[in-house]
Amino acid sequence: QFMDELMGIRQKERQLAQRFNIKRCIIVSGDSDRQLKVIGTMGEEVNQLLQQLLPEGSNIVAVMGGHTMEHVANHLTNKLANKRDLLFVPARGGVGESVAIQANTIASQMAQHTGGKFRSLFVPEQVSERTYEPLLKEPSIQEVLAIIRQANVVIHSIGDAIAMAHRRNMSEDQIKVLRSRHAIGEAFGYFFDQAGNVVYRIPRIGLQIGELADREIILAVAGGASKATAIEAYMKNIAPKRTCLITDESAANLILKK
Ligand code: F6P
Repeated sequence: QFMDELMGIRQKERQLAQRFNIKRCIIVSGDSDRQLKVIGTMGEEVNQLLQQLLPEGSNIVAVMGGHTMEHVANHLTNKLANKRDLLFVPARGGVGESVAIQANTIASQMAQHTGGKFRSLFVPEQVSERTYEPLLKEPSIQEVLAIIRQANVVIHSIGDAIAMAHRRNMSEDQIKVLRSRHAIGEAFGYFFDQAGNVVYRIPRIGLQIGELADREIILAVAGGASKATAIEAYMKNIAPKRTCLITDESAANLILKK
């Protein structure tokens, strides 16, 4: 029975990769919404995938924040640093998260687990654009931005639009705008609709979606039934075709059922 199940999953991986026209898809069994350990299993898969894909020598890994990424960080191992220099940086600065799940924190956790290095982007999370702008001119920030630009690896998650808006304390008015524009998903601070049109963007620095395409390795990690529509919209319409998706069976089943 276990083998049947595994065969079933392998087949779904192929179908999903085909559906999104991407090179690789990994599905773990279960539903991240119901069981935290499923997110952990996705993290283990990320660790294995990185072990296969990361080139020897120096690597700059740009990462996003969120709970999924937090679990991914906890499952990276120091085997990754074998014959490799790893430098972790946040992909974007200040999208309004609490400390535990900020990209800065994730980057430092990843460095700790792998024995790599990290750099932080010291820009506050919850400030007006007017306060934010002059900060960007600081040499120390410019230096980290230059490193982000050189990243050969990007690891990120995908979220449900309205859930992300609430988590970032966006105003009711802003949320109304998101709803009226049919935002269903979010990645990198970009909110998008079913067709992958970006309908709102948190004006923050760092990696922009347009700059993703020329990265050597791109991993999108997101699971749970609640994220199925967001994952589908992002993977189908926005993700560079080089992206590898790591997801769970409950999200995959919902997408494949359509
Ligand atoms: O805010 C950072 C971020 O990576 C978003 O881009 C993404 O939508 C979200 O976190 C995912 O969060 P979680 O893993 O907690 O669902």
